[in-house]
Parts: sequence; C-alpha cells; structure tokens
Amino acid sequence: MCGADGQIPLKRLCSPGQCSVLAVRDNATLTRGGIVNTLNHGNQWGRYDTRRDSRRHHPRAPRLSAHRRGRAMSDRPEMFEGTDRIWMDGEFVDFEDAQTHVLTHALHYGTGVFEGVRCYDTEQGPAIFRWEEHLDRLYKSAKPYDLDIEFSKDELTEATTELIETEGFESCYIRPIVYYGFDSLGVSPKDCPTKTTIAAWPWGAYLGEEALEEGVDVMVSSWRKHASSQIPTNIKTTGLYVNSMLAGEEARRNGYTEAIVLNKEGNVAEGPGENIFMVRDGEIYTPGLAESILEGITRNTAITLAEEMGYTVHEEATISRGELYTADELFFTGTAAEVTPIRSVDDNEIGEGTKGPVTDELQSAFFDVIESGDREEWFHYV
Ligand SMILES: Cc1ncc(COP(=O)(O)O)c(C=O)c1O
Repeated sequence: MCGADGQIPLKRLCSPGQCSVLAVRDNATLTRGGIVNTLNHGNQWGRYDTRRDSRRHHPRAPRLSAHRRGRAMSDRPEMFEGTDRIWMDGEFVDFEDAQTHVLTHALHYGTGVFEGVRCYDTEQGPAIFRWEEHLDRLYKSAKPYDLDIEFSKDELTEATTELIETEGFESCYIRPIVYYGFDSLGVSPKDCPTKTTIAAWPWGAYLGEEALEEGVDVMVSSWRKHASSQIPTNIKTTGLYVNSMLAGEEARRNGYTEAIVLNKEGNVAEGPGENIFMVRDGEIYTPGLAESILEGITRNTAITLAEEMGYTVHEEATISRGELYTADELFFTGTAAEVTPIRSVDDNEIGEGTKGPVTDELQSAFFDVIESGDREEWFHYV
C-alpha cells in the first residue's frame, strides 16, 4: 500500500473493513477519516486534518461539516484550531474571549467539577453518547462542593447541541465544567459565583489509534489514589486530577503509555483517566466503587455489553497488583480511551501481549454501537 503522496510505503495495521487505522508512517497513523495521530507519548491529543476519502470513516474521527472545511487555521494551540466559540454562563463567546480571572477560586483550590463526553458521527447522524448519564454525573459531582449549577439539564443540553451545530462538528469531544469563580480568595468559596462553561473540539483517539488495535504498555504508578475518605473519588472534581497527572507523567517519563494507580490499600484502582478491567478464565472483573474509582460511564457501558454477550462480570472486584501480571487480558475503558487493550504491565506481557479475544469482542461491540448509533437510550441526537 502506498501513502497519500503515492511514494512512501505505509504499514497496514489491520485488514480492510476491520478497523479504522489505515497505516502508520513516521510515528503517525492515518485513518479513514483522515485523522492523523502522533503516537509519541508527549502528544496524546492527536492532530487532525480535513482530508477525507469515500470510505466509511470512524465515527470518532474528527470531521468538520461542509461549511467548516477549508477555513484558515489560527495561531491557537493545534488542538483548538477548529473551535470558534465557547458557551459561558448562558452565552456564546468567541474563543479568544473565553477568559477567567487569575484569582478564580477554582484555579487556586481545584474547586471545579467537569465532564468529558463524546459526540460521534453515527449512521443516524451526530449523536452525543450517554449524554444524560454525563449530565447526571455533573450534577452529582457538584453536590458535595455546594456548587449550585444555575442552569437546568435542559438548558445545558440546548447549549451543547447548539454549540455542536453552530461549530459545525460531526464528531467532537465535549467538556462541560462548573467551578467557583472570582470573588474572595479564602478557602471558603461562600462569596464566589458558580461559573458554567461548555467547550467542544474535534479529538481523535486519546492513547492513539494504534493503541486500540495493539494495546498499550503501562506501569503501576508509585503514586497512590486518594482514599474516598479523603475526597470523593466516585465523582469528577478538577482537583483530583493532579494525582492523575503525576501518575501519567511518571509513566510517560519512564517510556510507558499510561499508568495504573493503586488505592491506599494497595489494590488496583484505575488508570489516571480510565477504569480498568481484567479477564481471567473467561470471566470479567473490575474494581468496585469502594476501591476509590471514578464511577465511569464507559465502565457501565462495557459491563452492560459484556453481560448481554453472556459474560459473567464481577463489578465489585478487589484486584491485587499480582493479579494484573497473571491476568489473561486487561483493558482500559473511558470516554477518551474508549476500550483500549493493555498488552503489558511493568514489562510483564499480558496474555499473548496483544489484544485478547474477550477484549476484542467487547471492543467490537462497543464500536458497533457508536458507529450505528441505533441504541436510542444511549444517544442524544444533535
Ligand atoms: C480517573 C478516571 N477514571 C475513569 C474514567 C472513565 O470514565 P468515563 O467512562 O465516564 O469517561 C475517567 C474519565 O473520565 C477518569 O478520569
């Protein structure tokens, strides 16, 4: 197979019709949607261009609708080149005007809650995957911090769909965030306003397209998760992610793609931005909420699909570090990571050192759902 320029040979990663990855060249993947992801660990965010071909694109491959193609790129960070407007507290503002004061409470104390959601370009058109569940979690996350979201779920839904439509995205990543704004800067946020913002941008595979096929090499981090007696870990608070950052960066500094974080008791909790699953003797295990994990929505999707496929799923499992090394299969789930196989932990090969059969089956079921978009209860069509 030849490259887009017809000269440089490209390596085929999977057979036609089986996956969205067409080729790897110079540390980058070219997919059907024209997405280019750098596989270098320093840039997980992926890059995109607007090349298209006539074949079916991946429903996540960032694409712009007709009126957005061919527009001049700005000097913004590459990740946001395709984003014009952001919704802030009831109005759409230009990207450059979406600013907050440096004395914002959340900047100093991590007092924000947020969501990461994907809109997929399904066969039924653009659709937000599990939007209602993400909204529910946002409101639940706000509760312990007394963050009073001034907008109803319907208003946030309307703002989000309008944002996607007017930005012209057929698929994108959506980031709602609610946080304490600028007033007094004592630890108590009592006089600070609650700010609500929604941004969206095109975003490819979090850990790289190749990771979805080949799996990722991970290390067990030396950093432990917060105990849920120290801070609520089941919900999505901005401040929690310093732990994720430390663990993820430690892994990447050491040449791994991602980390696995143990909880205070030394049992397996999750990845810095993913839940984790283990397959052993044909049954599936995933740590329970008492293990200091985020109550992941993709985790719930994976459990539901696996049970429908006839697997026994132990969703309140306690998994020791040693069990990771002897597992038949391991995989991550997450809105960003989707269903990503883990091929080694601390240099110990897992199974055959590639995507295992159960992971493969579940990943296919997951991508079938998001490609077809026909499981109505899981989609909010834009
Ligand atoms: C720490 C952590 N665990 C798990 C997940 C997966 O959650 P979800 O599937 O809801 O994206 C995420 C991603 O948001 C995360 O940040």
